[in-house]
Amino acid sequence: MPLLTTPSVVTALRAAGCVFAEDEAELILTTARTPDEAATMVDRRVAGLPLELVLGWAEFAGLRITVEPGVFVPRRRTEFLVERALAAVPTASVVVDLCCGSGAVGAALAASLDGAELHAADIDPAAVHCARRNLAPHGGHAHGGDLFAALPAHLRGRVDILAANVPYVPTGEVPFLPSEARDHEPLVALDGGTDGLDVLRRVAAEAPEWLAPGGCLLVETSERQAPTALATFRRSGLTARTAVSAEMHAHVVLGTLT
Ligand SMILES: C[S@@+](CC[C@H](N)C(=O)[O-])C[C@H]1O[C@@H](n2cnc3c(N)ncnc32)[C@H](O)[C@@H]1O
Repeated sequence: MPLLTTPSVVTALRAAGCVFAEDEAELILTTARTPDEAATMVDRRVAGLPLELVLGWAEFAGLRITVEPGVFVPRRRTEFLVERALAAVPTASVVVDLCCGSGAVGAALAASLDGAELHAADIDPAAVHCARRNLAPHGGHAHGGDLFAALPAHLRGRVDILAANVPYVPTGEVPFLPSEARDHEPLVALDGGTDGLDVLRRVAAEAPEWLAPGGCLLVETSERQAPTALATFRRSGLTARTAVSAEMHAHVVLGTLT
Protein backbone atom coordinates (compact mmCIF):
# COMPACT_ATOMS: atom_id res chain seq x y z
CA MET A 1 0.00 0.00 0.00
CA PRO A 2 1.64 3.31 -1.04
CA LEU A 3 1.81 5.89 1.76
CA LEU A 4 -1.00 8.40 1.33
CA THR A 5 0.10 12.02 1.25
CA THR A 6 -2.11 14.98 2.02
CA PRO A 7 -2.05 16.22 -1.62
CA SER A 8 -3.00 12.77 -2.97
CA VAL A 9 -5.92 12.48 -0.53
CA VAL A 10 -7.07 16.02 -1.34
CA THR A 11 -7.00 15.19 -5.05
CA ALA A 12 -9.01 11.99 -4.55
CA LEU A 13 -11.60 13.73 -2.35
CA ARG A 14 -11.90 16.71 -4.65
CA ALA A 15 -12.44 14.43 -7.65
CA ALA A 16 -15.25 12.75 -5.70
CA GLY A 17 -16.94 16.15 -5.20
CA CYS A 18 -15.97 16.86 -1.57
CA VAL A 19 -16.19 20.65 -1.23
CA PHE A 20 -13.97 20.82 1.86
CA ALA A 21 -11.38 18.37 0.54
CA GLU A 22 -8.41 19.91 2.41
CA ASP A 23 -10.17 19.86 5.79
CA GLU A 24 -11.49 16.34 5.25
CA ALA A 25 -8.07 15.06 4.18
CA GLU A 26 -6.54 16.39 7.37
CA LEU A 27 -9.26 14.85 9.53
CA ILE A 28 -8.90 11.46 7.83
CA LEU A 29 -5.11 11.45 8.06
CA THR A 30 -5.09 12.48 11.72
CA THR A 31 -7.86 10.02 12.70
CA ALA A 32 -6.51 6.93 10.93
CA ARG A 33 -4.19 4.83 13.08
CA THR A 34 -2.46 3.09 10.17
CA PRO A 35 -1.85 3.79 6.46
CA ASP A 36 -4.22 0.92 5.59
CA GLU A 37 -6.95 2.46 7.72
CA ALA A 38 -6.39 5.85 6.04
CA ALA A 39 -6.70 4.25 2.60
CA THR A 40 -9.94 2.50 3.59
CA MET A 41 -11.33 5.77 4.95
CA VAL A 42 -10.53 7.61 1.74
CA ASP A 43 -12.17 4.86 -0.32
CA ARG A 44 -15.32 4.97 1.82
CA ARG A 45 -15.52 8.76 1.62
CA VAL A 46 -14.99 8.69 -2.16
CA ALA A 47 -17.85 6.14 -2.32
CA GLY A 48 -20.14 8.71 -0.67
CA LEU A 49 -20.22 7.71 3.00
CA PRO A 50 -20.78 10.77 5.24
CA LEU A 51 -17.50 12.06 6.68
CA GLU A 52 -18.58 11.46 10.28
CA LEU A 53 -19.30 7.79 9.59
CA VAL A 54 -15.95 7.46 7.83
CA LEU A 55 -14.16 8.95 10.83
CA GLY A 56 -16.38 7.30 13.43
CA TRP A 57 -16.90 10.57 15.28
CA ALA A 58 -18.47 14.02 14.98
CA GLU A 59 -17.51 17.21 16.75
CA PHE A 60 -20.33 18.58 18.89
CA ALA A 61 -20.12 21.36 21.48
CA GLY A 62 -16.39 20.83 21.79
CA LEU A 63 -16.77 17.08 22.37
CA ARG A 64 -15.76 14.21 20.12
CA ILE A 65 -18.98 12.20 19.82
CA THR A 66 -18.77 8.60 18.60
CA VAL A 67 -21.11 7.95 15.68
CA GLU A 68 -22.04 4.46 14.56
CA PRO A 69 -23.68 3.27 11.32
CA GLY A 70 -27.43 3.80 11.23
CA VAL A 71 -27.38 6.51 13.90
CA PHE A 72 -28.29 10.18 13.26
CA VAL A 73 -25.16 12.33 13.00
CA PRO A 74 -25.42 15.25 15.47
CA ARG A 75 -25.71 18.58 13.65
CA ARG A 76 -23.74 21.62 14.75
CA ARG A 77 -26.90 23.78 14.81
CA THR A 78 -28.20 21.64 17.70
CA GLU A 79 -25.45 23.18 19.84
CA PHE A 80 -27.86 26.14 20.06
CA LEU A 81 -30.42 23.96 21.85
CA VAL A 82 -27.72 22.93 24.34
CA GLU A 83 -26.72 26.56 24.87
CA ARG A 84 -30.36 27.63 25.47
CA ALA A 85 -30.95 24.73 27.87
CA LEU A 86 -27.95 25.71 29.98
CA ALA A 87 -29.06 29.33 29.99
CA ALA A 88 -32.63 28.39 30.97
CA VAL A 89 -31.70 26.07 33.87
CA PRO A 90 -28.04 26.70 34.72
CA THR A 91 -28.18 24.68 37.94
CA ALA A 92 -30.01 21.65 36.52
CA SER A 93 -29.39 18.50 38.51
CA VAL A 94 -31.56 16.06 36.51
CA VAL A 95 -31.23 16.01 32.71
CA VAL A 96 -33.08 13.90 30.14
CA ASP A 97 -32.06 13.64 26.48
CA LEU A 98 -35.16 12.20 24.80
CA CYS A 99 -34.83 10.96 21.19
CA CYS A 100 -31.13 10.93 21.99
CA GLY A 101 -29.59 9.37 18.85
CA SER A 102 -25.85 9.32 19.60
CA GLY A 103 -26.47 11.04 22.95
CA ALA A 104 -24.60 14.15 21.80
CA VAL A 105 -27.04 16.58 23.44
CA GLY A 106 -27.01 14.76 26.77
CA ALA A 107 -23.23 14.45 26.75
CA ALA A 108 -22.82 18.16 26.00
CA LEU A 109 -25.24 19.12 28.79
CA ALA A 110 -23.56 16.82 31.29
CA ALA A 111 -20.14 18.19 30.35
CA SER A 112 -21.29 21.67 31.42
CA LEU A 113 -23.34 20.70 34.48
CA ASP A 114 -21.33 19.50 37.40
CA GLY A 115 -22.52 16.07 38.53
CA ALA A 116 -26.02 16.18 36.98
CA GLU A 117 -28.00 12.92 36.85
CA LEU A 118 -28.26 12.14 33.13
CA HIS A 119 -30.71 9.86 31.34
CA ALA A 120 -31.14 9.43 27.58
CA ALA A 121 -33.65 7.40 25.60
CA ASP A 122 -34.31 6.36 22.03
CA ILE A 123 -36.61 3.93 20.26
CA ASP A 124 -33.84 2.68 17.97
CA PRO A 125 -31.54 0.03 19.53
CA ALA A 126 -28.61 1.23 17.35
CA ALA A 127 -28.96 4.72 18.85
CA VAL A 128 -29.18 3.37 22.40
CA HIS A 129 -25.97 1.38 21.84
CA CYS A 130 -24.16 4.44 20.52
CA ALA A 131 -25.52 6.76 23.25
CA ARG A 132 -24.38 4.33 25.93
CA ARG A 133 -20.80 4.75 24.69
CA ASN A 134 -21.02 8.55 24.58
CA LEU A 135 -22.72 8.90 27.96
CA ALA A 136 -20.46 6.51 29.88
CA PRO A 137 -17.76 9.15 30.55
CA HIS A 138 -20.49 11.33 32.11
CA GLY A 139 -22.04 8.58 34.24
CA GLY A 140 -25.21 8.77 32.09
CA HIS A 141 -27.77 6.04 31.46
CA ALA A 142 -29.22 5.18 28.01
CA HIS A 143 -32.65 3.52 27.83
CA GLY A 144 -34.50 1.93 24.91
CA GLY A 145 -38.19 2.48 24.16
CA ASP A 146 -40.92 4.78 22.91
CA LEU A 147 -40.45 8.32 24.28
CA PHE A 148 -41.23 8.57 28.03
CA ALA A 149 -42.09 4.85 28.30
CA ALA A 150 -38.33 4.22 28.20
CA LEU A 151 -37.59 6.34 31.27
CA PRO A 152 -37.36 5.11 34.87
CA ALA A 153 -40.51 6.08 36.78
CA HIS A 154 -38.50 7.76 39.55
CA LEU A 155 -37.76 10.66 37.14
CA ARG A 156 -41.43 11.75 37.08
CA GLY A 157 -41.72 15.34 38.31
CA ARG A 158 -37.92 15.68 38.74
CA VAL A 159 -36.52 16.62 35.33
CA ASP A 160 -34.87 20.06 35.18
CA ILE A 161 -33.83 19.93 31.52
CA LEU A 162 -35.82 17.82 29.07
CA ALA A 163 -34.05 18.13 25.72
CA ALA A 164 -35.85 16.45 22.84
CA ASN A 165 -34.39 16.84 19.38
CA VAL A 166 -37.25 14.87 17.85
CA PRO A 167 -37.50 13.98 14.14
CA TYR A 168 -39.17 17.00 12.51
CA VAL A 169 -38.95 16.65 8.74
CA PRO A 170 -42.45 16.53 7.17
CA THR A 171 -42.95 13.13 5.50
CA GLY A 172 -43.35 14.70 2.05
CA GLU A 173 -40.00 16.47 2.35
CA VAL A 174 -37.91 13.43 3.31
CA PRO A 175 -37.21 12.53 -0.37
CA PHE A 176 -35.65 15.99 -0.85
CA LEU A 177 -33.14 15.71 2.00
CA PRO A 178 -29.44 15.54 1.07
CA SER A 179 -28.45 11.98 0.17
CA GLU A 180 -26.14 11.80 3.21
CA ALA A 181 -29.27 11.91 5.38
CA ARG A 182 -31.65 9.96 3.11
CA ASP A 183 -29.25 7.12 2.41
CA HIS A 184 -27.41 6.80 5.71
CA GLU A 185 -29.77 7.87 8.47
CA PRO A 186 -32.83 5.87 9.51
CA LEU A 187 -36.28 7.18 8.58
CA VAL A 188 -37.31 7.06 12.24
CA ALA A 189 -34.66 9.74 12.93
CA LEU A 190 -35.95 12.09 10.23
CA ASP A 191 -39.67 11.64 9.53
CA GLY A 192 -41.88 13.72 11.82
CA GLY A 193 -45.20 12.90 10.12
CA THR A 194 -47.39 14.99 7.82
CA ASP A 195 -46.43 18.41 9.24
CA GLY A 196 -43.24 17.17 10.93
CA LEU A 197 -44.69 17.73 14.40
CA ASP A 198 -46.18 14.34 15.33
CA VAL A 199 -43.43 13.34 17.77
CA LEU A 200 -43.13 16.88 19.13
CA ARG A 201 -46.88 16.89 19.97
CA ARG A 202 -46.53 13.63 21.90
CA VAL A 203 -43.51 14.94 23.80
CA ALA A 204 -45.22 18.24 24.67
CA ALA A 205 -48.37 16.46 25.88
CA GLU A 206 -46.52 14.29 28.38
CA ALA A 207 -43.64 16.59 29.37
CA PRO A 208 -45.45 18.39 32.24
CA GLU A 209 -45.72 15.08 34.15
CA TRP A 210 -41.95 14.63 34.02
CA LEU A 211 -40.68 18.19 34.53
CA ALA A 212 -39.72 19.52 37.94
CA PRO A 213 -41.22 22.90 38.90
CA GLY A 214 -39.16 25.42 36.89
CA GLY A 215 -37.96 22.63 34.59
CA CYS A 216 -37.70 23.27 30.88
CA LEU A 217 -38.57 21.30 27.73
CA LEU A 218 -36.57 22.25 24.62
CA VAL A 219 -37.09 21.12 21.04
CA GLU A 220 -35.55 22.13 17.72
CA THR A 221 -37.92 23.03 14.85
CA SER A 222 -37.81 24.74 11.48
CA GLU A 223 -38.74 28.42 11.21
CA ARG A 224 -42.04 27.43 9.56
CA GLN A 225 -42.99 24.98 12.31
CA ALA A 226 -42.05 27.22 15.26
CA PRO A 227 -45.45 28.99 15.69
CA THR A 228 -47.37 25.69 15.73
CA ALA A 229 -44.82 24.15 18.10
CA LEU A 230 -45.17 27.18 20.39
CA ALA A 231 -48.97 26.84 20.45
CA THR A 232 -48.63 23.11 21.16
CA PHE A 233 -46.39 23.80 24.16
CA ARG A 234 -48.85 26.38 25.50
CA ARG A 235 -51.78 23.97 25.13
CA SER A 236 -49.83 21.55 27.33
CA GLY A 237 -49.70 24.21 30.05
CA LEU A 238 -46.07 25.23 29.59
CA THR A 239 -44.90 28.85 29.56
CA ALA A 240 -43.37 28.84 26.10
CA ARG A 241 -41.11 30.99 23.97
CA THR A 242 -38.96 30.68 20.87
CA ALA A 243 -35.20 31.29 20.57
CA VAL A 244 -33.54 31.85 17.20
CA SER A 245 -29.94 31.82 16.08
CA ALA A 246 -29.61 33.31 12.61
CA GLU A 247 -25.92 32.43 12.62
CA MET A 248 -26.56 28.74 13.33
CA HIS A 249 -29.84 28.55 11.33
CA ALA A 250 -31.48 27.17 14.46
CA HIS A 251 -34.95 27.54 15.96
CA VAL A 252 -35.59 26.25 19.45
CA VAL A 253 -38.90 26.23 21.31
CA LEU A 254 -38.64 26.28 25.10
CA GLY A 255 -41.42 25.51 27.55
CA THR A 256 -41.11 25.97 31.31
CA LEU A 257 -43.30 24.34 33.93
CA THR A 258 -44.26 27.24 36.18
C1 LIG B 1 -33.31 14.02 14.73
S1 LIG B 1 -32.67 12.60 15.56
C2 LIG B 1 -31.86 13.43 16.92
C3 LIG B 1 -30.79 12.63 17.59
C4 LIG B 1 -29.99 13.40 18.64
N1 LIG B 1 -30.85 13.93 19.70
C5 LIG B 1 -29.21 14.54 18.02
O1 LIG B 1 -29.59 15.71 18.17
O2 LIG B 1 -28.21 14.26 17.36
C6 LIG B 1 -34.16 11.95 16.29
C7 LIG B 1 -34.01 10.68 17.12
O3 LIG B 1 -35.32 10.36 17.64
C8 LIG B 1 -35.46 8.97 17.72
N2 LIG B 1 -36.89 8.66 17.79
C9 LIG B 1 -37.83 8.78 16.83
N3 LIG B 1 -39.05 8.42 17.29
C10 LIG B 1 -38.88 8.09 18.60
C11 LIG B 1 -39.77 7.64 19.63
N4 LIG B 1 -41.08 7.47 19.40
N5 LIG B 1 -39.26 7.38 20.85
C12 LIG B 1 -37.91 7.56 21.09
N6 LIG B 1 -37.02 7.96 20.16
C13 LIG B 1 -37.51 8.23 18.93
C14 LIG B 1 -34.74 8.46 16.47
O4 LIG B 1 -34.40 7.11 16.60
C15 LIG B 1 -33.54 9.42 16.40
O5 LIG B 1 -32.41 8.87 17.03
